[in-house]
Amino acid sequence: MSDLPLTERNQRPAMARKKVYLETMGCQMNVLDSELVMGQLRRIGYELESDMTRADLVLLNTCSVRDHAEQKVLSRLGSLTKPKLMNPDMIIGVMGCMAERDPESLIEKMPHVELICGPNELNKIPAMIGEIEETRSRAVALSQDFKRKTTPLERALDYDSVEALDLSREPDPGQNSLQAYIRVQRGCDKFCTYCIVPFTRGLERSRPASIIVEEAKMLADRGTKEITLVGQTVNSYIHQESGLPIKFAELLSRIDEIPGIERLRFVTSFPGDFDIEIFEAMRDLPTVCEYLHIPVQSGSDRILKLMNRQYTVGEYEELIGKAREIVPGITLASDFIVGFCGETEDDHEATKELIERCQFKNIFVFKYSPRPGTASFKGKDNDVPDKVKRRRNVELLDLQERISLANNQSFVSEVFEVLVEGPSKAAAKAREAEESPRVQVGWRNESQLVGRTRHDRIVVFEGREELVGQLVSVKITSATALTFHGDVIEPVSLGR
Ligand code: 5AD
Ligand code: SF4
Repeated sequence: MSDLPLTERNQRPAMARKKVYLETMGCQMNVLDSELVMGQLRRIGYELESDMTRADLVLLNTCSVRDHAEQKVLSRLGSLTKPKLMNPDMIIGVMGCMAERDPESLIEKMPHVELICGPNELNKIPAMIGEIEETRSRAVALSQDFKRKTTPLERALDYDSVEALDLSREPDPGQNSLQAYIRVQRGCDKFCTYCIVPFTRGLERSRPASIIVEEAKMLADRGTKEITLVGQTVNSYIHQESGLPIKFAELLSRIDEIPGIERLRFVTSFPGDFDIEIFEAMRDLPTVCEYLHIPVQSGSDRILKLMNRQYTVGEYEELIGKAREIVPGITLASDFIVGFCGETEDDHEATKELIERCQFKNIFVFKYSPRPGTASFKGKDNDVPDKVKRRRNVELLDLQERISLANNQSFVSEVFEVLVEGPSKAAAKAREAEESPRVQVGWRNESQLVGRTRHDRIVVFEGREELVGQLVSVKITSATALTFHGDVIEPVSLGR
């Protein structure tokens, strides 16, 4: 409480907070980066604004994995030309992978962009804003990290400047804290021939386990129940501690011990580099969820070789066979690229056969998009016509839909532990339009809620809003390819 008399307090104009419009495209890593950058901006007096034309600062956190994502950013920036003319003090910034990939052409196409910040330099954004306000000249921060020649060990020991961003983490008290991401590593060393990530995010560096565990404890103290560890290839996590290597399974077991954490997940895994201890940790540690996102990209050995994936289809299937043997009930998800350079109908058929054999829970399918600077852009022809890519894309998704539907329906009448995340999308939308779908059921005030099983299946059910953030048992009554519908079983279990 202020010591000032009420009258005086009322007369004082409230310090105007500046407004930032922050839009995030791309992967979970970007979602986490945006949250951390927003934490830093809050400290220098910014608050979030949902209308970009009214913002003092517009920041786009960008993705370069496919051309489509970059085009979206360019169109967003194009639409800011007029607002910038009307308000010359507005700062327009591009952060993330697109800033790092090709800053020159970005500036050439969009000269009104004044802040350009690569993903390894994000902790510099508050200082860059100050510099722009003072000098009204463009501020650029890039790392070009992939050009540095360092060994994995040197990199693990290299406590680089961007670590300050993660260390500055202070969750927004106004934000839902139920689920959180924690970074375990930056960058990637794999150099798949199609992929831009090693060039934008730099080479792989793992963060110290002790710091990750401290971050998890801090989040647990603030009410976080589900943590997702994020990295490009989390299973290759390794960091030296007192001269001894800490690997991913050990990291999982340290986080598992933290009181308050109910569920521990991780994305994304690389099919090479897997050690069995990770599967054993998934089986033995109570918090680690039985779900693995393990992109295979293609079902053809020939294409995997051209992609430099460093494993064969047989090795991939052997690996997921082991995962299923060790972790009962594990669900698997995967990524596929269709229309990679030279992909024939036979290669595509081989991919379909692999999908049929693997029985994934779900898959993500992408049309190959040539990325300047990558090996496949330089050395191979993007020779599969877009029409063919589109057809192959649809074929894989249709096949998976059939598999998911049959698989999900086999669970009708089973009971699952569900972490309740919030109102279902439909319910949230209806509420926004002030047509709340709440219904009075006896003494209870119920609405449609959504949650997830440990296996990452989405469950929609009717329930009291107090259930949000709790673990409940839900009996499945029907299933589509994407969603379960069910009833909460009373009495509800309220966590550990
Ligand atoms: N074109 C299409 N898809 C790509 N991915 C990565 N690079 C490309 C590209 N150039 C996909 C891969 C990866 C996912 C995150 O994006 O499937 O697993
Ligand atoms: Fe890209 Fe391959 Fe690294 Fe994944 S493993 S981020 S696809 S280079």
